[in-house]
Amino acid sequence: MVSKKFILLPIALVCTIFMKSATALDLVYCDFTSNQTNPSDATGRLSWTRVSNGTFSGAHLTGQLNTGFTSQNPQDYSFCAKDPSGNVFKDMSREIDDALKITNPPGTGPFNCDFSGLDVDTLSGMIMEISMKQADGKNATIGRAQIQPTQDSLSPQSSQPVQGSQPPQSSQPAQDSQPAQSSQLTQ
Ligand SMILES: *[C@@H]1O[C@H](CO)[C@@H](O)[C@H](O)[C@H]1NC(C)=O
Ligand SMILES: *[C@@H]1O[C@H](CO)[C@@H](O)[C@H](O)[C@H]1NC(C)=O
Ligand SMILES: *[C@@H]1O[C@H](CO)[C@@H](O)[C@H](O)[C@H]1NC(C)=O
Repeated sequence: MVSKKFILLPIALVCTIFMKSATALDLVYCDFTSNQTNPSDATGRLSWTRVSNGTFSGAHLTGQLNTGFTSQNPQDYSFCAKDPSGNVFKDMSREIDDALKITNPPGTGPFNCDFSGLDVDTLSGMIMEISMKQADGKNATIGRAQIQPTQDSLSPQSSQPVQGSQPPQSSQPAQDSQPAQSSQLTQ
């Protein structure tokens, strides 16, 4: 029985580490869908992944947009993350325009680019807006979508205390075979 304590202790430790890392978002995304009113709307997905390796720290964007890109000139498009009041939080136009390849209008090929120093956490909840320069020189919004978190621990069933903190009860089979469902926000 005593040895069980020594097994549960490292498991509790691993759970704690897991919980800590789960509080930071590692991936956020937004889906553009057409609202039918405007059949030339942009549709598709943009995703930002947290990257931190020896040489780079920031966000890596991958995307592909299937409709809406009727102009083949990447410089005609602007991509801005705006806060809910409409203020520009991050203008990503330069990086995305450089990466954009509109080989099959109105769709783009898959593209990717990097944003140094951009923390993906800060993008969650922002509104991503795509606009396209029109013949008259004005910009028209062709896509608008809210950036969503993809944090598994936001699921509702995760409100139980850490199992490892219970003293071992010999009548129960190994609790530790369950994956960590313990993700209360420990601040
Ligand atoms: C680090 O991440 C950047 C950005 O995604 C990438 O360009 C670079 O190749 C990566 N370096 C290593 C050593 O993985
Ligand atoms: C249209 O968008 C581009 C790129 O963001 C910007 O440089 C330009 O000033 C905008 N033009 C108008 C008329 O808003
Ligand atoms: C549909 O999208 C267009 C352009 O994106 C926008 O101007 C219009 O208000 C939207 N209509 C509805 C009902 O959401």
